Amino acid sequence: MSPSQTDNKATPGAGPIEVPQGLYRKHPSEPHITGISHYRSLYSESIQHPDFFWSRFARQLLDWDKEFRTARSGSLANGDTAWFLEGRLNASYNCVDRHAINTPSKPAIIYVEDADGQTRVITYSELLRSVCKLSYVLRDMGVAKGHTVSIYMPMVPEALIAMLACARIGAVHSVVFAGFSAEALQGRILDAGCKLIITSDEARRAGKPISMKTVVDQALKFCPGVTGCLVFKRTGLTPTSWISPRDRWWHEEVEKWPGYMPPEDLPAEHPLFLLYTSGSTGKPKGLVHTTAGYLLGAAASTKYVFDLHEQDVFFCAGDIGWITGHTYLCYGPLLLGSTTIVCEGTPTFPSPFRYWNIIEKHQVTHFYTAPTVLRLLKKAGSEPSPNQVSKLRVLGSIGEPIAPEVWLWYYESVGKKEAHIVDTYFQTETGCHALAPLAGVTSTKPGCASVPFFGVDPVIIDPISGTEIVSCNQEGYLAFRQPWPSMARSVWGDHTRFIKTYFNQYKGYYLTGDGAYRDSEGDYWICGRIDDVINVSGHRLSTAELEAALLEHPAVSEAAVVGVSDEMTGQALSCFVSIKDGHKDDSTLNKTAISYIRKAIGGFATPKYFIVVSDIPKTRSGKIMRRILRKIFEGEKENFGDVSTLINPASIQTVIEEVETFR
Ligand code: WTA
Repeated sequence: MSPSQTDNKATPGAGPIEVPQGLYRKHPSEPHITGISHYRSLYSESIQHPDFFWSRFARQLLDWDKEFRTARSGSLANGDTAWFLEGRLNASYNCVDRHAINTPSKPAIIYVEDADGQTRVITYSELLRSVCKLSYVLRDMGVAKGHTVSIYMPMVPEALIAMLACARIGAVHSVVFAGFSAEALQGRILDAGCKLIITSDEARRAGKPISMKTVVDQALKFCPGVTGCLVFKRTGLTPTSWISPRDRWWHEEVEKWPGYMPPEDLPAEHPLFLLYTSGSTGKPKGLVHTTAGYLLGAAASTKYVFDLHEQDVFFCAGDIGWITGHTYLCYGPLLLGSTTIVCEGTPTFPSPFRYWNIIEKHQVTHFYTAPTVLRLLKKAGSEPSPNQVSKLRVLGSIGEPIAPEVWLWYYESVGKKEAHIVDTYFQTETGCHALAPLAGVTSTKPGCASVPFFGVDPVIIDPISGTEIVSCNQEGYLAFRQPWPSMARSVWGDHTRFIKTYFNQYKGYYLTGDGAYRDSEGDYWICGRIDDVINVSGHRLSTAELEAALLEHPAVSEAAVVGVSDEMTGQALSCFVSIKDGHKDDSTLNKTAISYIRKAIGGFATPKYFIVVSDIPKTRSGKIMRRILRKIFEGEKENFGDVSTLINPASIQTVIEEVETFR
């Protein structure tokens, strides 16, 4: 394979961009990693002596109730890696108590309300009190160690408090992104076997209230295992339906309990959380992350990739419902005792200057967002003044490839060439950064994910031979050759699926699902998914789930969904649908079929294109040829590669004509 699908190549002739001098000028002291040779020696130690390396870091970055003796057991080939056996610790103690003891009045969380209403500052000692009170409430509502708790919350500090309270008592949190529909939430609650759900009455987005509790009520109709629903009053604007004794108000319950509860000491491998993510096939997978390994990855990557220091203010604009929010909004910054911003609402309301105003007001040093947001702000002509970003040292990008022109805009117009851009690559599965430049250390190239993080041993696999590609600039499958502490340990309730998805295709490797290549300087470039996962605005969507939703519609006979390039969202969904005999393509089909997707997944998965075709190209075994459909959509008329296995080769020509009519 050549680097073909790559849409994130560097501008020809553009050389690496050195660490901007402004970073050093603004720095409170000096970067944790003193230079590229320091990185190289630590990295090589992390690969050659991972047990020794990570044991040292685990002792430096985490507080333990009981020391571990064994650094690591298991292997990638068997998909059974475990870290820091015998050790015991508590995540909420590490994120909250130890800082509440040392720096009680330091802001842990700065909450910026939607539409820039109120700002609320929560210090570490206040955070400890809130987490403890909620821990009592959870226990009172029947939650015990090992139980799963669903969290369906807007971007408010209480979402983080809920996560930390679960962690304090050893309950396993399963945060579900607030954009998911009742049906999607229900599926996740049932799969995780949740005992309790924590939600809010409403959310606020761009000045408008959005109902949350009614979605939960609908989801809970068929969840007999859920015995409690704790409701945080975010707006109090609309009367909330109430089912007693299941439903309880957060503010009434926390009043009843003291402000301190000792944390449970938990085994290192105790599950900390589940996070559902979409794959190529089947229903979403609840990836299981365990306590010590995950926390170590979160702390180490936040410290070294972002070069975060204690006095820094970290603004991650991602949502708590995704891994970025877990690792870099909640756990990472709090583990390091710095300050994290919780920003409710959208980037453009009340104005597209909102983020720059927040950065200025709260003296933000680190800003982290997805390219989709950057494209939106760039298009809106929104740029900060130099004064607004005078404290900014690091600008992170995450979730999707960042095109060089967007990268350069971020660097020049936002960072004023004084902040270091870190294009970070990771996944729900990896828990923390896998490839990324190190702020203050690594020179960068626009659109390049740069170098592996400690402990990550990347290889590019030739998909045909299954062997490692050693030459440069040759695209293949990105895989990792060695286990690292923060990797997911399993798929909840289905360990066989975990092994099959990630470890069986190429024995001895973890397969990421992304294509990539390594350039002549050893830097890694991500080329997009190699499977049927589509990335819309940084949200990971599965063609299988989207198609299953469309097939529920009584008029839909066959459905194929493909990701097509989109200027604003990176990829957009394009649906190809054929209709059952006896039904017709009237003007409402498009809307009603799409409403099935919104119902099954959520509004954020709304397709952009909906094309009715008479036949969908597929193989004799019934496999839909999405590759061909994507090419047709992109305007290709002839070069479709090998079509000899198609059962209906004539369908290609008809789809070409139907797409032309659609345009
Ligand atoms: C994609 C999000 C290009 C990739 C943190 C990966 C990226 C998927 C980058 C994981 C990047 C993430 N450049 N693509 N810097 N970062 N991706 O699990 O396809 O929601 O496999 O985690 O996002 O999505 P997930």
